[in-house]
Amino acid sequence: MKALVYLGPSQKALQDRPKPEITAPSDAIVKMTKTTICGTDLHILKGDVPTCQPGRVLGHEGVGIVESCGAAVTAFKPGDRVLISCISACGKCGPCRQQMYSHCTTGGWILGNSIDGTQAEFVRIPHADTSLYPIPEGADEEALVMLSDILPTGFECGVLNGKVQPGSTVAIVGAGPIGLATLLTAQFYSPAEIIVIDLDDNRLEVAKRFGATATINSTNGKALEAVMKLTGNRGVDTAIEAVGIPATFEMCQTIIAPGGTIANIGVHGKKVELHLELLWDHNISITTRLVDTATIPLLFKTVRSHKIDPKRLITHRFKLDKILEAYDTFGNAAKTNALKVIVEAS
Ligand SMILES: NC(=O)c1ccc[n+]([C@@H]2O[C@H](COP(=O)([O-])OP(=O)(O)OC[C@H]3O[C@@H](n4cnc5c(N)ncnc54)[C@H](O)[C@@H]3O)[C@@H](O)[C@H]2O)c1
Ligand SMILES: [Zn+2]
Ligand SMILES: [Zn+2]
Repeated sequence: MKALVYLGPSQKALQDRPKPEITAPSDAIVKMTKTTICGTDLHILKGDVPTCQPGRVLGHEGVGIVESCGAAVTAFKPGDRVLISCISACGKCGPCRQQMYSHCTTGGWILGNSIDGTQAEFVRIPHADTSLYPIPEGADEEALVMLSDILPTGFECGVLNGKVQPGSTVAIVGAGPIGLATLLTAQFYSPAEIIVIDLDDNRLEVAKRFGATATINSTNGKALEAVMKLTGNRGVDTAIEAVGIPATFEMCQTIIAPGGTIANIGVHGKKVELHLELLWDHNISITTRLVDTATIPLLFKTVRSHKIDPKRLITHRFKLDKILEAYDTFGNAAKTNALKVIVEAS
């Protein structure tokens, strides 16, 4: 089968690889129909994710059709159309029983990381019963690809952890696919203001179309002044970090209102300063989270009832044999205006 293989920092290739086989009774083999590329795949290619070793098939998102099941799989059968969670979960260990699937003792974020992933014609899904979701007849599969990772990430790590409330004021720092997924799902709670901050005017334009009440281009270093002006000098109740660099987490610390919550989403590779000398008396909370994808069923319903349309995040489409082009397009988003790219595997 064809698969996109990580070969070490800055190196990848579309290779012929053996088709995966069932290795445990709880496995399923899924024939991929649609997958996508995540900012985290770019982190891997930079060499930022040491658990992902050269030779690994990348990808942790997508939809497909069950090809075969191990003897212990009871919820799915060959021919079923399925959504793949980026998090594999046994459903039985301590963290799984708390719905903290990201910390499953025999799963978590392993797909396209410590085991072969979804940017291929076939993928082996461990713990299939609790890591796949059935796709009903007639559902829009492209839209559902956004439910493998980015929508639950924005919703769980940003909106839920950030305690977005009706009438509250929210700032989202970073308008990439994750920031925009946060923006879409924040609107479930009707906050009064959602301010989106980024360096890229095109992404800020998209944010406006997706429901931002104000946008700030922070290239001039004056985001703090702009947020204070918009909030009557109070700051925001929820500041969501959706970039993953020290500058943006520090920005969240300056714009947070007393009593507010800073919800970190970004994957950080560098040490970040915590300004307790400014925040000790501010009654704030800081949260961190690796997405659990516990909200996939809930988000599924919001997509089916058209409360949100995640398809709006898709800007480009490629066939699997053109996946290197898809990576170039996604990796040069400032030039190509790419948000999410769909890669059709069959
Ligand atoms: N916690 C989790 O479970 C989880 C899951 C998925 C992704 N992530 C992380 O979320 C982060 C965002 O992902 P993405 O795919 O949207 O990334 P992305 O790189 O596409 O988007 C980041 C955005 O931040 C903007 N930006 C960069 N520097 C900035 C600055 N100084 N000020 C303001 N904006 C700035 C960029 O212009 C871009 O629009 C990444 O760190 C990713 O690894 C975390
Ligand atoms: Zn991802
Ligand atoms: Zn588990």
